[in-house]
Amino acid sequence: MCGIVGGVVQNNLVAILMEGLGRLEYRGYDSAGLAVLNKQGIRCKRVLGKVKALRELLETEPVSGNTGIAHTRWATHGKPSTANAHPHICRNKVAVVHNGIIENHEQLRKQQLENGHQFLSQTDTEVIVHEIFDAMKTSGGLLSAVMQTVKKLEGTYALGVMSSDEPGSLVACRKDSPLVIGIGNEGYFIASDVAALLQVTQRFVFLEDGDVAAITKDKLVIYDVNEHEVVRTVKESLLTADFFDKSGYPHYMLKEIYEQPFAILRTLEDRFINNRLQDSAFGENAAAIFNYIKAVQILACGTSHHAGLVARHWFEKLARVPCDIEVASEFRYRNPVLAADTLIVVISQSGETADTLAALQEAKKLGAKYSLAICNVPESSLVREADLVLMTRAGPEIGVASTKAFTTQLTALMLLVIAVGKRFHLSEEKAHNLTAQLFNLPGNIKKILQLNNEIKALSEQFSQKQHALFLGRGSHYPIAMEGALKLKEISYIHAEAYPAGELKHGPLALIDADMPIVTIAPNNSLLEKLKSNMQEVSARGGQLIIFTDESLDTIADGNVQVVKIPQVDNDISPIVYTIPLQLLSYHVAVLKGTDVDQPRNLAKSVTVE
Ligand code: G6P
Repeated sequence: MCGIVGGVVQNNLVAILMEGLGRLEYRGYDSAGLAVLNKQGIRCKRVLGKVKALRELLETEPVSGNTGIAHTRWATHGKPSTANAHPHICRNKVAVVHNGIIENHEQLRKQQLENGHQFLSQTDTEVIVHEIFDAMKTSGGLLSAVMQTVKKLEGTYALGVMSSDEPGSLVACRKDSPLVIGIGNEGYFIASDVAALLQVTQRFVFLEDGDVAAITKDKLVIYDVNEHEVVRTVKESLLTADFFDKSGYPHYMLKEIYEQPFAILRTLEDRFINNRLQDSAFGENAAAIFNYIKAVQILACGTSHHAGLVARHWFEKLARVPCDIEVASEFRYRNPVLAADTLIVVISQSGETADTLAALQEAKKLGAKYSLAICNVPESSLVREADLVLMTRAGPEIGVASTKAFTTQLTALMLLVIAVGKRFHLSEEKAHNLTAQLFNLPGNIKKILQLNNEIKALSEQFSQKQHALFLGRGSHYPIAMEGALKLKEISYIHAEAYPAGELKHGPLALIDADMPIVTIAPNNSLLEKLKSNMQEVSARGGQLIIFTDESLDTIADGNVQVVKIPQVDNDISPIVYTIPLQLLSYHVAVLKGTDVDQPRNLAKSVTVE
């Protein structure tokens, strides 16, 4: 994954690079580094660990320069270490930061060793810097050396490159990894994401695949994949740097949990006229596409996949729209059968998840005619690739564990169910009823947030546990999966979710006094069946924690704790039941003292396979 930032300005660039790097840490935080160019040449500082460690190093060993590149790493090739941290430098002449994976690095490395290069890291990236160094000998400059080099690279990359031979200039390029150019008052910048540059500009150019950009402090020239000079549109970002502070919360995750009522409201806003959902909310051709399609195939990863699992229940149960779902990483290699009139729905917070993007491309190859993206990042690759788009308006999500992105995805998916469902078996009346349920969500979520202290008290039971089970049925089973994922991600407790009916087919063997079992038990048609499952657990001494809106006196005994959730309509309740599970995992993680916002080994945006 990794985050890159760079730029060329009149004066010292280091503060800008460091602020930018801090906002890119969600992309990885195994190591951090920067290189600047000044009269003495390239000055580079790298550390193992987070941006904070780099900041501390720079306090004791300051550097300055008006041209620079910086990087925060999520390790792929080579363990997290200072040697493997970027920038990588060849003979004090060329420095590179890279996000992506060079697939033919072994072959290039072999040739370069034969050519006398020495390798100082185990990374795939280092071959790039040596290749550019060699190309500079014959190419007549950094720009053409980079152009020559990228032709030899297989894989994915966003690159920032500078050379001591060309002070005051930077070359950047991308293929299948995101890269934006920021146009500031004092110079030009590059970054993996607009967030990194909001302190200097709100004006951006989004590079297209194959583009190479040459930057100086007062000039930007972009060349397309055929090396022709091109003009790319300048776009204004609506984000500001304030989006990225914690607003008094101890962690981004808690802030983002509490932002959900507002985020959901924003996702619903402007989509309706006279209480009727507008097809145009999904894009210009939405009406014609929705009239054409006969089925839906959802593709996503991680938490976004869980949102899709809930939506499958909604599509089929509420509207009788045939709907399938698969994790993107499996779909892309399975060679599935796909009809042209199946609408591909890709769900992604970042819009940059490599597997989801590849699955969308594969679905197109397999013959699906139309696609729709549900995404939180405008201008992301997924948004640009899909025919239709419905943006979740959660605002930037910084905590690695997804919270508000998930509930806004579910909100957006319900909007899609309404829009498509009306062409199938969803009555006008039911559509109105679902719309009303959606608009009641912010108020209902606010009520659940008031249970925070009760849930915090519950979390103490988990802090010494090694394992936990989450149970649900129907559209609440994916919510159990999401609850288990949240607990795993941030508290490192092994947690698994089961559809409650599967208990006796194996997991019941695990039940003992050390196994907390979190059960999502709304009062719906499956409650009686769920009660039997809970009795089975209780009878074997399992510790039940039940989230329900119903009185469950029949099974309440010493081993059972019940958290009463305000009653909501059953259709929408998967969204509502998500909130207490988010709070539970948050408080367990805080008690365990883990890094809530940046859990070990993970990254928010998974731009590698
Ligand atoms: C990573 C994140 C998860 C996220 C998943 C899919 O694993 O840590 O929170 O659900 O990627 O990301 P996307 O941006 O496609 O929703």
